[in-house]
Amino acid sequence: MEGIGKAYLDYNATTPLDPLVIGVITESLKCEWGNPSSAHSLGKLASDRIGRSREQVAAMINAHANDIVFMSGGTEANIVALQSGLNSITKPNSKECNIVLPHVITSNVEHDSVKNYLSVQQDCGKIDLSFAQVDKASGQLRPESVLSLVNNRTCLISVMHANNETGVLMPIMEIGQALKALNVSRSQNNLPKIYFHTDSAQSLGKVKVDVKQLEVDYLTIVGHKFYGPRIGALFVKDLLTQTPLVPLLQGGGQERGFRSGTENTPMIAGLGQAAELVVQNLDKYMEHMTRCRNALISNLKDQIHDIRINFVVDPRLPNTVSLQVPQNVTAQKVLENCNGKIFASLGAACHSNSQKPSSILMASGLSPEEAGRTIRISIGRTTPDSEIEFAVKVLTEACKRA
Ligand SMILES: Cc1ncc(COP(=O)(O)O)c(C=O)c1O
Ligand SMILES: *[C@@H]1O[C@H](CO)[C@@H](O)[C@H](O)[C@H]1NC(C)=O
Ligand SMILES: *[C@@H]1O[C@H](CO)[C@@H](O)[C@H](O)[C@H]1NC(C)=O
Ligand SMILES: *[C@@H]1O[C@H](CO)[C@@H](O)[C@H](O)[C@H]1NC(C)=O
Ligand SMILES: *[C@@H]1O[C@H](CO)[C@@H](O)[C@H](O)[C@H]1NC(C)=O
Repeated sequence: MEGIGKAYLDYNATTPLDPLVIGVITESLKCEWGNPSSAHSLGKLASDRIGRSREQVAAMINAHANDIVFMSGGTEANIVALQSGLNSITKPNSKECNIVLPHVITSNVEHDSVKNYLSVQQDCGKIDLSFAQVDKASGQLRPESVLSLVNNRTCLISVMHANNETGVLMPIMEIGQALKALNVSRSQNNLPKIYFHTDSAQSLGKVKVDVKQLEVDYLTIVGHKFYGPRIGALFVKDLLTQTPLVPLLQGGGQERGFRSGTENTPMIAGLGQAAELVVQNLDKYMEHMTRCRNALISNLKDQIHDIRINFVVDPRLPNTVSLQVPQNVTAQKVLENCNGKIFASLGAACHSNSQKPSSILMASGLSPEEAGRTIRISIGRTTPDSEIEFAVKVLTEACKRA
């Protein structure tokens, strides 16, 4: 975009479609429009395509194709995972914790789809909810902060893999391994299994994601964050034999009854292609993002006095920069001074002239004033060096004028 005097640096909000993904979607729109449930050859063509796509998505996260269910997006996948994990323990006749209030643990920096769904369940008196706090200043979550909240009634834990604002990676593998060990003693004491969900919206296509390594029961996949279409999928470990999945939509029984509604074949085809690209090129993407990110940070530090980069911790996403502009300036003013040339997000959303600082940034240790000085920058897998140079130049001038 720098050729036309603009820099898009908001890839955590959404990505464009990869040209190969557009190609596959277009082809599928033209040729695979048959109803996948139809017995004739046009139906078969569509259902074969969906099967192929399921394999591609599964390969991206080292899963079995049977354990993938396509759905509308990240919000739906998150809610289906949570409602399924909860249902596992409220089943009648279950010897598990059906008599007492189920206990759920989540972090205090989750996406609204997780946070709001669980908060509503709590407000209705259906669950007892605990929030594990990320460490102030680093934005990191210690596994103990989650595990120390476990009690005899705990049935579900949901922690995101990577945070969309700070870029901090959460210790999913460590929590998953601890829960696996805990399951053994709990099942000996007739205590319920703790199902473990992670929202992987921000990590796919940016770091390696392997469901076996992470030891998760549910994992959320969101196409438009890794150059795919605006649909998603949910991974459910050993779907047919072990982990429950409660459908949100009942109807024609598509997706083996787990997600009714005639399948969106072209978008599913596109999601498969986007996943395939991640399988083939992840190392390249990571290397590129890391290099661009480091160049952006060091150039900004050279140019602007008193600039601060928040959440420089390990591990973190290779593409996310939380930039704190100097004191006596606001991020909003700096972005305004960029005259529409920089596409990035603010640490404080503007609501009718008053600034509402991001609750995620504040939970991660920033003061409201610091959140108001924060610009959230996220780099893409093909962001050219020249676009980084352009962004540094524009931001430097904008800070000087602010
Ligand atoms: C961490 C995280 N989870 C879930 C979502 C929700 O995805 P969608 O809005 O596509 O349903 C997003 C998108 O902003 C996200 O960043
Ligand atoms: C990240 O998620 C939060 C919580 O849902 C949302 O308010 C914010 O706009 C998102 N930011 C980006 C850069 O996507
Ligand atoms: C939990 O432990 C029980 C008893 O050891 C075992 O049968 C079960 O398969 C375990 N579940 C998981 C998901 O590991
Ligand atoms: C938790 O369950 C164990 C095993 O059933 C029991 O010994 C213990 O007393 C319980 N703890 C609480 C706080 O209920
Ligand atoms: C800049 O901000 C600091 C801290 O908010 C304040 O103490 C100082 O007076 C300000 N300086 C100017 C020139 O506004």
